[in-house]
Amino acid sequence: MPEGRSTERWGSRIGVILAVAGSAVGLGNFLRFPGQAAQNGGGAFMLPYFISLLVLGIPLCWAEWTMGRYGGLRGFNSAPGIYATIWRNPISKYFGSIALLLPLVIYMYYVLIEAWCLGYAVNYLTGDLMIGSGGTVDTLIETAHAEAAKTGTSLTDAEAASAGFGQFFGNFVGANQDGFALGGKNAPWLLVLAATFVFNFILIYRGVNKGIEMFCRFAMPAMAVLAIIVLIRVLTLGTPDPARPELSVVNGLGYMWNPDAKALWNPQTWLAASGQIFFSLSVGFGIIINYASYLREKDDVVLSGLTSSSMNEFFEVCLGGLITLPAAFIFVLGTLSPEAREGIVQSGFSLGFKALPHVFANMWGGQLFGFLWFFMLFIAAITSSVSMLQPVIAFFEEGFGLKRHSAAALLGLISALGTGFVLYFSKDLIALDTFDFWVGTFLIFVLAMFQALLYGWALGIKRGEEAAHQGAHIRIPRFVQYMLKYVVPVYLIAIFVAFCWQNLPDRMEQIANDSVAVASMLFILTVLAFLLLLIHIAGRRWKAEGRLDEGGPRP
Ligand code: ALA
Repeated sequence: MPEGRSTERWGSRIGVILAVAGSAVGLGNFLRFPGQAAQNGGGAFMLPYFISLLVLGIPLCWAEWTMGRYGGLRGFNSAPGIYATIWRNPISKYFGSIALLLPLVIYMYYVLIEAWCLGYAVNYLTGDLMIGSGGTVDTLIETAHAEAAKTGTSLTDAEAASAGFGQFFGNFVGANQDGFALGGKNAPWLLVLAATFVFNFILIYRGVNKGIEMFCRFAMPAMAVLAIIVLIRVLTLGTPDPARPELSVVNGLGYMWNPDAKALWNPQTWLAASGQIFFSLSVGFGIIINYASYLREKDDVVLSGLTSSSMNEFFEVCLGGLITLPAAFIFVLGTLSPEAREGIVQSGFSLGFKALPHVFANMWGGQLFGFLWFFMLFIAAITSSVSMLQPVIAFFEEGFGLKRHSAAALLGLISALGTGFVLYFSKDLIALDTFDFWVGTFLIFVLAMFQALLYGWALGIKRGEEAAHQGAHIRIPRFVQYMLKYVVPVYLIAIFVAFCWQNLPDRMEQIANDSVAVASMLFILTVLAFLLLLIHIAGRRWKAEGRLDEGGPRP
C-alpha cells in the first residue's frame, strides 16, 4: 500500500451517524438558528427553512456522503484526492483547497467561541456570573451604577445588570481593545483556551475511530440530556413576575414562532434560511466528504445521511428553537424596546453571552442551569470543531506520507497561528467576523455550488445513483437525482448572486476602511496560497505513485 494511504475506518454504523450528527450539531443550532428565525419572520422563516432543507440540504448531504465514499474506496480521504477521482481533470484537485481552507479557517475562530463556552461554564461554577454572589458581575454592576451616578443619571437594576453582563463579555473576549485578551489578567482564560485546543488535538490524534467516534458516542446523548434538562426548566418558567404577566413563557414562544408572512416576500429571508441550513448541517464545509471516505463498500450512506440530518434538525428546531429565545424574552428581551431587542437578537453573541447569562442570573437554580447550558454548548462545539480538523489532517497524511503526530503538529501550528490572530485582533471582533463572513458564509456557497456540479455533471447522476445505493438501506427517490443535476445548481447560483448583491458592497467598503479587515483577508489568502502549493506538490507525488489518473478512462 502506498505511503499515506489510510487504513482508518469507522467502527460502527451508529458511530459514523453520531460523528456526522456531532459535526452538524453545534453553536449554529443553539445560538445562530434562534436569532436567524426571530429576525426573519419567526414561524414564517420555517417555510424557506424547510424548503432549503429539502431542496438543498438533504440532497447535497447525500451527494457529499456518496462522493466521499466513492473517493475513499479509490484510496483518498481528503478533498483534493477525492475531487480528482471524480473529475479526472488536472485542475480538479485545486478546488480541494476550498474544502480544506473552509474547515481550517472556521476552526480558527470556532475553537475560540468553544472556549468562551467552557470559560462561561467555569464562571458559573465559581459564581462570577451570578448576581449577588460578590463575584465579577456584581463588581461590574456596581461600576455601571457608579458611572451613571457620575453623569447625574441613574440606572434601573435591570439596566445596570445588562451593562454588567455586556462588560463581562467585552472584558472576557477583549472586545474593547486589540491584544486585551492576551493580557496578563486573562491568564486563567488563556489556560481554558489552551486546554480546549489541546483536547481537540488529543481527539484528532487518537483517530477517526478511537478519537472522534468514541467521543461522539458519549457526547451526543450527553448533549441531548443536558439540553432537555434546560428545556424543561425554561418551559416551566411560567410567569416569573406576577406584576408583569406579559413576560411569560407562552409570549416568549410567541415571540420566536409567531409567523410574520410579510417576511416571505423579502429575499433576505430566503438567503438566511439557506445559509442557516448549510452552516447547521455542515454541508459545503468539506467535512462530510471526508468523514464518508472512511466508510466501507457495503456501508449504507442514504439512511445514515438522512438520520444524521434529522438528528441535527431535532437539536436545532426542537431544542435550540425552544430554549434560547423564549428564555431570553421572559427576563431580558421582553423588557426592552423593539429596537434594543432587535440589536441583541441580530447578534448571536449578544443573545448567547450577554442576554442568556442575565436570564440565568434571574432564574431559580440559575447557577446550575447556567453551568449545564454552557457546558452543553461546549460539548456541542467540540464535536463540530474536531470535524473541522480531520479533513486537513487527512490531507497532510495522504499528501505527504506524514505520520499522525507530524500531521497533527503541523496542523496544530497553523491553526494556532490563526486562532492567535483572531484572539489578538479582538476589538469589535472584526477579525472573527471577517473570517466568518468570507469563509464561514461566502465560501460555503461557493463550495456547495462546486460540489453540486461535481456530483451532477462530473460523477453524473447515473453513476452517483449507483454509488449511493451500494449497501443502502433505503432508496433515494429518482427525482432527487434530477434535482441535484438541474435544480440545486440553479437555485444555488440564484441565491449566491442575491447574497453577493446584498452583502458585498458593505463588505468591500469595510475592506477599504478597516486595516484589521484587510489583514484578516490577507491572512485567509495566505493560507489559501499555502494550501494550493501543498496540493500542487501532493498532486505530483500522487501522480508519480500512479494514484492519480487525470484524463484516463474511468474504470
Ligand atoms: N454545523 C456546525 C454548527 O452548527 C458548524 O455549529
